Amino acid sequence: MIFSGVENELMNIDWSRRAVQQCASLHPYIPGKPVEQLLQEKGLASAIKLASNENPHGPSPKAIEAIRNHAGKVHRYPDGDAGELKAALADKHGVKPENILLGNGSNEVLELIIRTFAGPGDEVVYSEHAFIVYALAAVAAGASGIAVPEADGLSHDLDAMARAVTDRTSILCMANPNNPTGTLHDLAAIQVFLDQLPRHVVVVLDEAYYEYTSATIGDSIGRLAHPGLVTCRTFSKAYGLAGLRVGYGVGDAETLALINRFREPFNVNLLAQKAAHAALDDTDWILNKVKVTLDEREKLQDFLAEHSLLGGKSHGNFVLLKHPRSMEILQALENTGIIPRPLAPYGMPDYMRITVGTEKENTRFMMETDKIMRHIQ
Ligand SMILES: Cc1ncc(COP(=O)(O)O)c(C=O)c1O
Repeated sequence: MIFSGVENELMNIDWSRRAVQQCASLHPYIPGKPVEQLLQEKGLASAIKLASNENPHGPSPKAIEAIRNHAGKVHRYPDGDAGELKAALADKHGVKPENILLGNGSNEVLELIIRTFAGPGDEVVYSEHAFIVYALAAVAAGASGIAVPEADGLSHDLDAMARAVTDRTSILCMANPNNPTGTLHDLAAIQVFLDQLPRHVVVVLDEAYYEYTSATIGDSIGRLAHPGLVTCRTFSKAYGLAGLRVGYGVGDAETLALINRFREPFNVNLLAQKAAHAALDDTDWILNKVKVTLDEREKLQDFLAEHSLLGGKSHGNFVLLKHPRSMEILQALENTGIIPRPLAPYGMPDYMRITVGTEKENTRFMMETDKIMRHIQ
C-alpha cells in the first residue's frame, strides 16, 4: 500500500470539503484517447489517433536536430525568460520581446491570463461551443463563466457576445478558428466586435490554428486594436511540437508583465525552447505541411458531404462529422483502430471531430467510414 501508516487518517478526512469551493464544479479536461489504450482495449495490432488536432507529419527535421543537440544539457535549468525564443518571436511578429509571454503550451497562457484578471465576482465571456479550457479556467479561478449561444449552433455570435459583456466582465475569450466547431471570422468583423467592447475588458484571441488560416484572412497581429488584446498561438499544431508544450501570447507589455507574475519560473523547458526556435526558422517545411493538410482536409470534407455527414466547414486541421448516431459510428471506428474525438463533452452529442491525418490515415478513415455507413442510416 502506498499510503500504509496514514491510511486510517486519510479515510477520516473529507478531502472534498478541504478543496476550494470551485473544485466541486470542475470536471477534468478529457484528452483524446491514447493509441496504446485503444490497442489494449480492443486487442488490435495498429491504431491511428485522429483525436487531438496534432500535426501527423511529425516535427520539422530542424527541430529534431535541435532536440538532439541539446539533449545532453537537460541537467541544467533552462533560461527562465526564454530570451532567445522570445527574441525570435518578437522579430517574426514585429514587436518587442516584452510583448511576448511564453507558456507551457498556449493552454498555460490562457490559464495565466484568466488567473490574472478573473476572480470571484468576475465574469468570463465566451461562446457556448468554444474551446472548453476557457470555461474550466474561469471556474478554477472562482469566476463565473458566461457561455453565449451561437445563432447557428456553431459560429461565435459576436453581437450577442458583445451584449453579454457587463460591468463584471473582466475577460472575453474567442478562438479563431474555433475548436471544435472550426468556424472563422475575418479580421474586419473582429475589429467591429472589439470596437463594441469596453476598453477595460481583456480579450483573448486564441489563434491556435492560425497557420491553417493565414492565407485566408491574413495575420491579425498588428492589425487589430484593443488595449487589453492578447493573441495566443502555439507550436502544438502546424509546428508539430505538441509533446514539448510551447505556446505564447502577444500583447501589450504592461498587461503581459502582470500576467508574468503568475508564471512559474521555468515554465518552458530547454528542449521545447530550442526546438520551437528551430521550427520557427523552418518556414518552407511548415508551409509545405500546412498545404498538404489543407488539401487533405478538402478531400475529407468532400467525402463527408457525399455521405451526408458533413457537420460544417472547418478552417482548422480537423473536420466535423454530424449524424444522430455519431456515437455508434465512433464506436465502430474505434473497433477498427481509428480514434476520433466525440463532442458530447462539448454539448454536441451528434458531432465528432476528426483530425486531418496523413494521406494514408485519411484514406483508412474514409474506407472504414464508408463500410460503417452501409449499416447505419
Ligand atoms: C483553440 C485551442 N486553443 C488552445 C489549445 C491549447 O493548445 P496547446 O496548449 O497545445 O498550445 C488548443 C488545443 O487543442 C486549442 O484547440
